[in-house]
Amino acid sequence: MVKFKIAKEDLFKKGKEALYFAENKMPVTGKVIRERFKKEKPLESIIIAGCLHVTKETGILARTLKAGGAKVILCGSNPLSTQDDVAAALVKEGINVFAWYGSNNDEFYWCIRECLKFKPNILIDDGADLIYTAHKEFPELITNGTIIGCQEETTTGVKRFEAMEKTGHLKVPLFPVNDARCKNQFDNELGTGQGIVSAIYGMHVLFAGKTVIIAGYGHCSSGMALKARGLGAIVIVTEIDPIKALQARFAGFQVVPIAKALPNADIILTATGCKDVIQPTKEIFESLKDGVILGNLGHFNVEIPTEELYKFAKKINPIRSNVEELVFPSGKRVYLLAEGRLANLILSEGHPSEVMDMSFSLQCLMSEYIVKNKDFLSPSMIKVPEEIDNEVGRLKLDSMGIEIDKLTEDQIKYINDPGSGT
Ligand SMILES: NC(=O)c1ccc[n+]([C@@H]2O[C@H](COP(=O)([O-])OP(=O)(O)OC[C@H]3O[C@@H](n4cnc5c(N)ncnc54)[C@H](O)[C@@H]3O)[C@@H](O)[C@H]2O)c1
Repeated sequence: MVKFKIAKEDLFKKGKEALYFAENKMPVTGKVIRERFKKEKPLESIIIAGCLHVTKETGILARTLKAGGAKVILCGSNPLSTQDDVAAALVKEGINVFAWYGSNNDEFYWCIRECLKFKPNILIDDGADLIYTAHKEFPELITNGTIIGCQEETTTGVKRFEAMEKTGHLKVPLFPVNDARCKNQFDNELGTGQGIVSAIYGMHVLFAGKTVIIAGYGHCSSGMALKARGLGAIVIVTEIDPIKALQARFAGFQVVPIAKALPNADIILTATGCKDVIQPTKEIFESLKDGVILGNLGHFNVEIPTEELYKFAKKINPIRSNVEELVFPSGKRVYLLAEGRLANLILSEGHPSEVMDMSFSLQCLMSEYIVKNKDFLSPSMIKVPEEIDNEVGRLKLDSMGIEIDKLTEDQIKYINDPGSGT
């Protein structure tokens, strides 16, 4: 029997429409892999818990895992990103869902615990909260071998697991799916790049002619800088990594320390995985331009110091859904998007389905890989095998009707011959 706690069951019709829309744009996850999974049932009697943004794209992933024979349980990976209509539609299809838009911190972790009570074999995480909670509160699932492998969807989660591995606290085989080429070179760059448009959609402002700070020049932020420039903005990049800073400079962006750039910025967008990208001091807050828009696309709500901003403001006016006007003691106003949380997911619908097709194809194939190889996996971070990464790339190209060249025998020989010099 399906178990769930969601906002409203009767939203299912709207959710079904959203899923239909995504399904057509995700031919690899929703068709090619699903058809094979239906026949081969590689996930038969496997329980998979996913702590993911409960969006229409995640729905397509859940359907394919279920088609492969798995029992699927979902909880949200952000308190504000659940699409309640999609959650309702998934429940109707027999997927166990514990997620609703606007859950508080206690409810958020309650949902995670409900997933873990199913005694899942595979955990698919987005930000590390599910797997971390399994280590902390459900260690028996690890020690008794119930959990056979784990998958992580985002950079921040991968960083948390790297820290756990370094200190000897990582007790499960962990695949950083985020780091696969088919994931971070498309999802992070293209998805978050396009996401800045949806991030400020709630404000309905023009990018052209605005001075926009993009904090970071990594996978997400470099995509954001390019898109902001494409929309006609004057883009300033801030970085802490000298090589990334050079890359930004050679791509034609101004590179400036953030404190110097802040007073001129009309829009500030962060995606660094770091905290306090804007330092939480009175002087820094007061140096912001009147009317500036602040949006974060990094995983946690600490890149823009949200709590300190709320404390500093003498008034907070909600002006549109997920947009707040914070009035400072000096009378200056700043506009904070989505309470400092993932603005692209909360003000809009997150990454376009086409991009998520690759990320979630990887997640499907990695679940299958974990089941097949469970007896050989050790508790550590394990790279996604190159063959699986390439397979997703090939399937995506096929679905787009694109052919590429193949190395000839002679070319393979040449590449592998150390003696072939001048
Ligand atoms: N919004 C989304 O839909 C979405 C999608 C994918 C990833 N993410 C999240 O976005 C964040 C970034 O991910 P990524 O894949 O781009 O990571 P990345 O490591 O490729 O890039 C982060 C960049 O930020 C820089 N940086 C770190 N601290 C900084 C600081 N204080 N000031 C300026 N620059 C700083 C780093 O040097 C690096 O170049 C993570 O939290 C990730 O989980 C969000």
